[in-house]
Amino acid sequence: MIIAIDGPAGSGKSSTARAVAAKLGITYLDTGAMYRAITLKALRQNVAYTDDAALGGIMAETVISFDGAPPDVRVIMDGEDVSADIRSDEVTRNVSDYCARDVVRESLVGQQRKAAAGRSVVCEGRDIGTVVFPDAELKIFMSASVRERALRRQKDFAAMGVGKSIEELMEEIESRDRKDSTRSNSPLTRAADAIDMDTTGMTLDDQVAFIVEKAVQINH
Ligand code: DC
Repeated sequence: MIIAIDGPAGSGKSSTARAVAAKLGITYLDTGAMYRAITLKALRQNVAYTDDAALGGIMAETVISFDGAPPDVRVIMDGEDVSADIRSDEVTRNVSDYCARDVVRESLVGQQRKAAAGRSVVCEGRDIGTVVFPDAELKIFMSASVRERALRRQKDFAAMGVGKSIEELMEEIESRDRKDSTRSNSPLTRAADAIDMDTTGMTLDDQVAFIVEKAVQINH
């Protein structure tokens, strides 16, 4: 069974998807982490997002894998644990530009389909129900108000020792939403057959229970 969870930044996808995968005992695939890992590598090598030739080289040589069982899944790039580095402010500010490139998306979508082949997976991202797994048995489109998402991001940043105002975070989130929703290659859109889930005011437990219940219904 494939459970596809899509939605904008900060809508609660990651924590929910991890917990759902842990509860159902199935694989968790964080596709945003893959776009972040490629962005991290490109930034480290000073490769501009417009340099498709160099990005093609990075796509050909980079090995991204996941280690551990959900909810504690580590992101490994070329043998290095980059779980913390891919969440840096710099990567977050640049990832929308790198992930919009065809050369990056084609390669990562292929890797995502391969990673899920023959398994039950909870896969989260922006184009999972529309492009990566259009035949997923369960599709969820998560959203939350911009303010709520900024508050969640502020907490994440505080845990990393970074202080940011709500206004600044709301602007960043709106800018990333705009870029992710208007890019030409597989923009963030809701699949026609996705179930809408507005997580504003919902607890993590509520979100997990909602999806697990739907998954169990489908499997019976
Ligand atoms: O979910 P996240 O914030 O970790 O995602 C990082 C970026 O990657 C986000 O700006 C959009 C992009 N992304 C994407 O384009 N397609 C996906 N399937 C997942 C993420």
